[in-house]
Amino acid sequence: MAKNSNNPHPAHKDHFDVLIIGSGAAGLTAALDMADTLHVALASKASLNNGSTAWAQGGIAAVLAEGDTVDDHVADTLVAGAGLCHEDAVRHVVENSRDAIQRLIDHGVPFSKGTMEEDGFHYHLTREGGHSKRRIIHVDDATGQAVQKTLEQKAREHPNITIFENHVGIDLLTDKHLKRGEMVHEQVYGAYLLNRQTDEVVTIRARSTILATGGASKVYLYTSNPDGSTGDGIAMAWRAGCRVANMEFNQFHPTCLYHPDAKSFLISEALRGEGAVLTVPNGERFMDDYDDRGELAPRDIVARAIDDIMKRKGLTHVMLDISHKDPDFVISHFPNIYRRCLDYGFDITAEAIPVVPAAHYTCGGVMTDLNGRTDLEGLYAIGEVSHTGLHGANRMASNSLLECLVYGSAAAKDILARQNQLPQPPRIRAWDSSRVTSSDELVVVSHNWEEIRHFMWDYVGIVRTDKRLERAKRRIDMLLGEIHDYYGNFKICRDLLELRNLATVADLIIQSAQKRKESRGLHYTTDYTKQISNSGDTILTPY
Ligand code: FAD
Ligand code: SIN
Repeated sequence: MAKNSNNPHPAHKDHFDVLIIGSGAAGLTAALDMADTLHVALASKASLNNGSTAWAQGGIAAVLAEGDTVDDHVADTLVAGAGLCHEDAVRHVVENSRDAIQRLIDHGVPFSKGTMEEDGFHYHLTREGGHSKRRIIHVDDATGQAVQKTLEQKAREHPNITIFENHVGIDLLTDKHLKRGEMVHEQVYGAYLLNRQTDEVVTIRARSTILATGGASKVYLYTSNPDGSTGDGIAMAWRAGCRVANMEFNQFHPTCLYHPDAKSFLISEALRGEGAVLTVPNGERFMDDYDDRGELAPRDIVARAIDDIMKRKGLTHVMLDISHKDPDFVISHFPNIYRRCLDYGFDITAEAIPVVPAAHYTCGGVMTDLNGRTDLEGLYAIGEVSHTGLHGANRMASNSLLECLVYGSAAAKDILARQNQLPQPPRIRAWDSSRVTSSDELVVVSHNWEEIRHFMWDYVGIVRTDKRLERAKRRIDMLLGEIHDYYGNFKICRDLLELRNLATVADLIIQSAQKRKESRGLHYTTDYTKQISNSGDTILTPY
C-alpha cells in the first residue's frame, strides 16, 4: 500500500508529475529537490533503505580540503578511469561536489568532525585508492546509513512525496502501451509496478520518470551488494529502447571479509587509506610488486593483484592488517567494521583479517547526458543505474555517492525547468494477466538464478578470455530463451522479475566484454593484454 506518514494519497493516486523508481541516494536527492513544486511518486521494491546506499562505508569524495582543487580531483578520476572518462561529466560532478555536500549538511547528515591538523577543514577527510589528497567526507565507517536515514526521513515527512514501498518496477510505459497508436519507443509515461503485498500490477503514469534503481553486481556469485542489486533499471531501459554503455566494466572491490557467514561483508578501502596493508598469510606484503602506489593504487589494479597472487600461490584469500595502528584510533574510525569483524571472531586491532575481492559496482549503464536524460523523452537515469561518463573503465573510490547527489539534483533541475513542455501522459492499457497461470515450478527461477551467478563469476570475472566469454554467451542465450518462455506463461513475482532482469544484464555484460579487444581498467583479458590506442566506449543499441 502506498503511504506517506503525513499525507494521504493525492487526488490522482495513479498519476503524478514525476515517478522515481528507486529510493537510494540518487532517487531521494531528486525527490527532495523537486517536491516543493511537483507531486512525486517514490517507489522501492522493498523498504526505502534496501539499496546499496544504506551499505556505503568509506564516504563521499569532494573538493573540500585546503590545498585540494577541482583540477586535482578531476585528474585523479581521469587516471583511475583508464582513459575512458568523459571529461565534461567528470568536471560537472567535481565542480558541484562542494554544493552537494553542503546540501547534505543542511539536511542534517552528521559527518564526522576533523581532529587532524592537515584536514584544513571542519570535518574529517579520509583517503582512499586513486585519490592524491585527503578528500573523503564520511560518517565514521557507515556513511551511507547516515545519508539514507537523513534523506529518507525528509522524504517521509514531505507532503508532496507519495511513497510506494514493496512495489517492483516491471516495465516502463512507452508508446507501445497506449490504448491506440503505433509501437514507437520515443516517450516514457511512467511504469507498471507489482504491488508485492496484493500481487496486483498497478499502472503509475507520470510526465517524467526517473530510474534510480542502483547497480547489477548481484549478477556475480560473490558480491558486496544487497540482494536487490539485480540491474532492474538497466534491463527496463534496454527493453524500452535506451542504449547502454560500458557494461563490461563491473568493479570488484579488493577487500571483502573471507568468512563463510559474512556474505562478502565489505572492509572499507578507508582502512588502507589510514594505513592498513595487504599481505599473504605469512605476513609478506605484495602490492608494491604490482604498483608504485601500493595499497592505494586504483581498485582495478589492487583487485587484479590479489586475484593474481591468490592464483599463483594457491591461496583462498589474502590478509588485511591494520593492527599496527593505535587500537583507539582504529575503533574510533571504524566502529562498525570493528564490531562486525568481532562478531565473526576477528579483532582488527590485534590481528590481520582474511579478505577476498567481490563484485561491487556497475560502472556501465543507461546512457545519459549531463542532466541524466536518456535516449527516451521523459525518461531519466541517475546514480549507479546510469552511464554518465564519470567512471570510464574504473570508478574511483567514493565518486559514486557523489554522482548520485550531483545527477539527482541535475535531473530535478532539468525536470523543474521543462515540466510544462512535456505532454500529460495518455491513457494506458491496464496490465493483462488473463493468459498466465501460477507456476508449480518455482525451482526453475532459483536454479537459473544460481546458474547465471556461478558462470558469470567463473567466466566473466576479474580475468577473462575469449573462450570463457564464448562459454558464458552460449549459456546465457539458452537461459534467456527459457526465462522468456517462463515469463510469458506464469504469474509474475519479485524473484521472476529479478531473474529476467539479471539475465538481460548478464547478456549485456558478456556482449560488451566480447566487443572489447583489449585490456583496460576493469576489463582484463589474457587474449588481448595491451591497450589499443583508439579505444572508446562500448555502446550497445537495442533492436
Ligand atoms: P541504491 O542505493 O542501490 O538504491 C536502489 C533503489 O532502487 C532501492 O530503493 C531499490 O529498492 C530500488 N529498486 C531497484 N530495482 C527496483 C525495481 N525494479 N522496482 C522498484 N524499485 C527498485 N560509494 C561511495 O561513493 N562511497 C562509499 O563509501 C561506498 N561504499 C559502498 C559499500 C558497499 C557495501 C556497497 C554495496 C556500495 C558502496 N558504494 C559506495 C557504492 C554506492 O553505495 C552505490 O553506488 C550507491 O549507493 C547507489 O545509489 P543509488 O541511489 O544509485 O541506488
Ligand atoms: C569503501 O568504503 O571501500 C567503498 C567505497 C566505494 O565503493 O566507493
